[in-house]
Amino acid sequence: MYKLKTTENGLKYIEITNNAACGKIAIQGAHLFHYAKTKEEPILWLSDESFLEHGEHIRGGVPICWPSFGFSNPELPPHGFARNRMWDLVNIIEVDKDTTEVIMDFKHSKKSLRAWDYKFHLTVKFTLSKKLTIELTTVNLDEKTFKFTQALHTYFNISNIDDVSIKGLENKPYLDALTNEKHMQEGTITFNAEVDAVYQEVDKEIILKDKKREVTINNEGSSSVVVWNPWIEKGKGMSGMAKEGYKEFVCIETANAFDDCKFLETGESHTIKVTIS
Ligand code: BG6
Repeated sequence: MYKLKTTENGLKYIEITNNAACGKIAIQGAHLFHYAKTKEEPILWLSDESFLEHGEHIRGGVPICWPSFGFSNPELPPHGFARNRMWDLVNIIEVDKDTTEVIMDFKHSKKSLRAWDYKFHLTVKFTLSKKLTIELTTVNLDEKTFKFTQALHTYFNISNIDDVSIKGLENKPYLDALTNEKHMQEGTITFNAEVDAVYQEVDKEIILKDKKREVTINNEGSSSVVVWNPWIEKGKGMSGMAKEGYKEFVCIETANAFDDCKFLETGESHTIKVTIS
């Protein structure tokens, strides 16, 4: 079952319910801001201070950062423009009683060409079932080759940041974005301060271990992963974030960043995919 709805603050979204899961996807940014398996706690975090307003960032869920992730292109807003724009709903397919697919797209326009002078077609397919998959495909419709960076910037809902660990990034090189230094990850990741790290050469599944459950993350078309938690001070100054909000989430972002940036020639395409179970 699905319904098109609007929040009291004017944000249009699709509400999906099937036997296995439920989810909510805003048309603005094709932003999945809720996903939970039936009778389970949400997998995705959504800030209590995010008021689901038309025209405002949603703090939580899975922002789609495209065609620039972080500050990789100083001419574009941080994390690109796709997360703020209205996408088109292409199709909703109820595959079986446990599985719903939602397909949305976003194409170049006069406005996008002013910000980034390339013609493109971006398609996202969400599959909501016992697993969540998100596939984002970029096609270059321009005559020029373009370079882009991107991320599926997933906010995971956790019981408490003190109680989580992340496995699967051991012995991977990473850039500490706070110091700009390169390091090698030793052991599992735990948190007792701000973390903003870009892992490279990621080729294994990642396991987010919490007190009550384990969440498994598999990435395809991506070998870079950002692990981020703003901790106390930075968290306080962020839009859409409550004072203690940093305790409730960790971001593990499926990316094409730094050395893993992508180049597409005319007509070429690239798909980045995350499967969360
Ligand atoms: C992460 C970055 O991907 O996103 C952080 O590594 C950044 O540096 C965070 O603070 C949140 O970004 P924004 O634009 O959604 O506030």
